[in-house]
Amino acid sequence: MSESFDALLQENRIFEPPAEFKEKAKVSDLSLYEWAERDFLGFWADAAKDIEWFSPFEKVLDDSEAPFYKWYTGGKLNVSYNCVDRHTRTFRRNKAALIFEGEPGDSRILTYQELYREVNKFANVLKSLGVQKGDRVTIYMPMIPEAVVAMLACTRIGAPHSVVFGGFSSQALKDRIDDAKAKLLITADGGYRRGSIVELKKNADAALEGETTIEKVVVVKRTGQEVPMTEGRDYWYHELMANAALYCEPEQCDAEDMLFILYSSGTTGKPKGIQHTTGGYLVGVHTTFKYIFDYREEDIYWCTADIGWITGHSYIVYGPLSNGATVVLYEGAPDWPQKDRFWEIIEKYRVNILYTAPTAIRTFMRWGEKWPKGRDLSSLRLLGTVGEPINPEAWIWYYENIGGGRCPIVDTWWQTETGMIMITPLPGVIPTKPGSATKPFPGVEADVVNEKGESVPPGQGGYLVLKRPWPAMLRTLYGDPERYKNTYWSKFPGWYFTGDGARKDEDGYFWILGRVDDVINVSGHRIGTMEVESALVEHPLVAEAAVIGKSHEIKGQAIAAFVTLKEGVEGTPELIQELKQFVAQKIGALARPDDIFFTAELPKTRSGKIMRRLLRDIAEGRALGDTTTLTDPAVIQQIKEQYKDEG
Ligand code: WT7
Repeated sequence: MSESFDALLQENRIFEPPAEFKEKAKVSDLSLYEWAERDFLGFWADAAKDIEWFSPFEKVLDDSEAPFYKWYTGGKLNVSYNCVDRHTRTFRRNKAALIFEGEPGDSRILTYQELYREVNKFANVLKSLGVQKGDRVTIYMPMIPEAVVAMLACTRIGAPHSVVFGGFSSQALKDRIDDAKAKLLITADGGYRRGSIVELKKNADAALEGETTIEKVVVVKRTGQEVPMTEGRDYWYHELMANAALYCEPEQCDAEDMLFILYSSGTTGKPKGIQHTTGGYLVGVHTTFKYIFDYREEDIYWCTADIGWITGHSYIVYGPLSNGATVVLYEGAPDWPQKDRFWEIIEKYRVNILYTAPTAIRTFMRWGEKWPKGRDLSSLRLLGTVGEPINPEAWIWYYENIGGGRCPIVDTWWQTETGMIMITPLPGVIPTKPGSATKPFPGVEADVVNEKGESVPPGQGGYLVLKRPWPAMLRTLYGDPERYKNTYWSKFPGWYFTGDGARKDEDGYFWILGRVDDVINVSGHRIGTMEVESALVEHPLVAEAAVIGKSHEIKGQAIAAFVTLKEGVEGTPELIQELKQFVAQKIGALARPDDIFFTAELPKTRSGKIMRRLLRDIAEGRALGDTTTLTDPAVIQQIKEQYKDEG
């Protein structure tokens, strides 16, 4: 990424909030920041007033067992009640909650009243299948309204969900089911992607082979092909719903009851079950959605993420719906049937706010301006990005070609762990600089520090840390509190370690430089190098593997693997294809390596650690860094030559 980072460091353009935008913006001066700075607990106590509580909380923050922080202790609430029920008592009852656009061109609109009905009925279905408060439910679904209904129904009865991205393999699904010890699985026969069917039920069946904690499976009919149904285990959603009672009393959950688990990659081969709770999470995503997207009652808002990621949880489902917003939900690919599908959807529904990822923007850039130019995008008033650093060139392209030069861009930095957006401009008040996520959200305290924990001077790189707790923070890693402490709170005791590198400039703006750990960011998705390595070494012909992220024009980073084969095995082009396919099958297509290089040995330090930095230098064609700690410097030369031959 060195070239794009250089470009980032030289970027000095500033974009003031457009006057017209500022005039109507929710926040157009710095008073919110000043207030939150003066009294950050007061700020978060006030933010909680937007949520309806069955019983009020006693304390905003309890840090007596830090880093196991608790928020809004003693408070009782229900998330589905806040996202649906309360809107049905106002004019929002007949307002669109979800505007669904299927990939094949079908569409459906659910008003808040209709969503309320579906959620209540499905909550009753879950209960009738034996799901009780505290039981984990795994959701493995395409981007269809039933996925949102399923999530909300779980929250209604206090059953934590674990949504697994539909692009994950059956093995990845199985691992996540096992770790969560989930009792029930909700899936669909399939989903549409680029004109073909993703066979979710087939994957689900494979994931349930052998021992499993899953007792019942609910299957939504979406694609309609024949799927086997296991008697006594599998049930059709539409059949269960036909007989479900209309109302389900919402569970009065404690603010600190577990709301969901979401698995994300870390530095080991085992994904982390990131655990979020009820009160703090809801206040956090509600408040950030309202201010960062400058949400207005009449807006149509579209976040292009999948509900299988935290972006989908926080900014398709919980943040927008708790605000009573109208949300567009699109099932498929951006280039189906044509490369203007996104722009067609914006034109069709007159979308006002668009939230997408830099990798998508770079893809659109490559496809060319003619696609957005052919559609009416004049309804847009605000743009957002998330998932990885955005290169200034892509930022400017987005600003001009999609935003027509009139829409502010909010570049939002956050993580699965933070639950809510942490560093971002508020679009009516913070001038933006292309490539910078700008400033911490009011009440958030971020800093860039060196190895010793000292703040580094402007312009210098360091570790990004968060120095103050925030309501939507993760509470622990499911079943592994030790790993929670070690991963996030031990490098700098008292502060949350993000795993990202960053620098601050003279104006206090944050520039995120990317991960400093063994996590790769491929198209805004986190993949652990160890996960891919473990998958590779499971192949019978592979002896050892080292995986690195190499900079990639569209994806940000791409996966490159250096592989040593077992004695006597020949590294053929066919084997390269086979290994790529093998990883895709083990984890999911998003983990398929772009490059695989065979090498006789891997470069290691004398203590036996693989020297990834050197491999990265080789993969990106850079001069080699320091090799003095290598056991066998000749290994490097050998790998480098091999790379030249095959690369
Ligand atoms: C990692 C978190 C949170 C939504 C999607 C990803 C990177 C995220 C930005 C941004 C630069 C970003 C970081 C972070 N990241 N947003 N605006 N600028 N980098 O969630 O899978 O938990 O990944 O994504 O490296 O640590 P995630």
